[in-house]
Amino acid sequence: MTNEFAADPTIAPAWSELTSLRDSSRGMSVRDLLDADPARCDELTVTAAGISLDISRQRVDPRILEALQSLARQQRVLEHRNAMLAGEHVNTTEDRAVLHTALRLPPGSSLLLPPGSSLLTGGRDVAADVAEVLVRMSAWAQDVRTGDWRGSTGARITDVVNIGIGGSDLGPAMAYLALRHYSDRSISCHFVSNVDPTDLTEVLRPLDPATTLFIIASKTFTTQETMTNASAARDWLVGAHGEAAVSRHFVAVSTNAELVTAFGIDPANMFGFWDWVGGRYSMESAIGLSTMVAIGPEHFRSMLDGFHAMDVHFANAEPSENLPVLMGLVAVWNRDFLDIPTTAVLPYSQYLARFPAYLQQLTMESNGKGVRADGTPSSCPTGAIVWGEPGTNGQHSFYQLLHQGTSTVACDVIVVARTPNPLGRQQDMLVANALAQASVLARGRTADEVRADGTPEELVAHKVMPGDRPTSVLMFEELNPYTLGALVALYEHSVFVQGAVWGINSFDQWGVELGKRVALGILDAIETGRPTAVSDLASARSIERYLALR
Ligand code: F6P
Repeated sequence: MTNEFAADPTIAPAWSELTSLRDSSRGMSVRDLLDADPARCDELTVTAAGISLDISRQRVDPRILEALQSLARQQRVLEHRNAMLAGEHVNTTEDRAVLHTALRLPPGSSLLLPPGSSLLTGGRDVAADVAEVLVRMSAWAQDVRTGDWRGSTGARITDVVNIGIGGSDLGPAMAYLALRHYSDRSISCHFVSNVDPTDLTEVLRPLDPATTLFIIASKTFTTQETMTNASAARDWLVGAHGEAAVSRHFVAVSTNAELVTAFGIDPANMFGFWDWVGGRYSMESAIGLSTMVAIGPEHFRSMLDGFHAMDVHFANAEPSENLPVLMGLVAVWNRDFLDIPTTAVLPYSQYLARFPAYLQQLTMESNGKGVRADGTPSSCPTGAIVWGEPGTNGQHSFYQLLHQGTSTVACDVIVVARTPNPLGRQQDMLVANALAQASVLARGRTADEVRADGTPEELVAHKVMPGDRPTSVLMFEELNPYTLGALVALYEHSVFVQGAVWGINSFDQWGVELGKRVALGILDAIETGRPTAVSDLASARSIERYLALR
């Protein structure tokens, strides 16, 4: 398969230059870099859409940053970005446009298009389609919030259960928690994703069918986990209020009107989106319906505006001042030149507790690939492993390894300046911890410094902190719908930049298909009691053990 954006980055001249810079700067520590240049912190902090990104604690200097920019030029990252924003089919293996940026365009505006022209895909006006769905979502969400939409018995809806998985779950679940402060407390949202029967059972246990509304969220409407949970939820409702209740208690979010109808959901209660919205890039599409019910259409619009502000910045800012470009290039430097395979995302905000899980899909399903977009093997490591927990909990768990373990982990520390829940000194304590960790990760503590504390000699080695853990600090005033949108868009575009440098297609996910198929064969072997029906001996043995134990 030919692909104009699949060039091997390792043959770009800038790759050799970066390799030399890495070799010649081996002894250069983050502490040295910070101490050598008092202007560094200001020069390496860039702000856009209310979010500042401070990369002064990364192991980069001006020459490295310039060479990374050269690499981006040689890999035609900006041309690739423009192709994506223009609706070209940059998702080549699925032959699709990638237009999540169109979901958040304010009415009448566009990105990089001449004034007055419309973004078209498949002959359709993208903005008009998006606007139409947003209007329907807003009206419906508002009706649920005001009580104009009621259950089949006439009771007000108090609980909304989103049934979906992957991109049809992680974004809405993350956003619901992140924006809890903005949500209507008289309606609770719940998220069921796992095919483990416990997930649905435990969510439904305290709920009343008369006041519960289900949103079945699935782009394809074929995903095994979602369709199984949806059927069980339907049975639960029908058992209590009969078949006629379904239309008042089930709505669907999907691109597949046919299967939605076949499931028994009235197409009038379906909110659509399009194949040019990837699952992991869909939280601001109709997949965000639960978010809209929780926070209301106006706050939802504000979230879209935050996304869009970061999109505008990504589309227009100079590469050296461009947050997603910088963040993406630093990630490439850490992954490929410093050989750091993993990144911890450490939000110092309880509201962002699900943000690392959300980012895991966004980053790893996008860039966890070993072939470039033309099918040739990647000649360099690609997507990092992403994980994390909110601070300060992580400090009492895995930070030991971050500080003194034998594997270097790159860190993103996320700081939110204001809390809507002030309680004594707690917010300042939280932020002090975040900044302290960033400092220790970057600077560490030398043996001489440890000795100077009066530490007994036999403990010195144990208390030395190597530091030099590349760390970025992201900071913004408050977590609100706008800043959440901007933050997510920042990571989305950073993921894009990394994929573009590596020449991989960040928008397909072929690696998840085989497991789904094999599971069907194993399920059949279990249900028919014929373990040997599967050709893989290890699986057959495991099935036997399972059948004996269950
Ligand atoms: O896990 C693979 C995947 O296709 C994800 O990309 C997607 O977000 C998820 O499954 C759910 O898919 P759907 O929305 O079609 O149910």
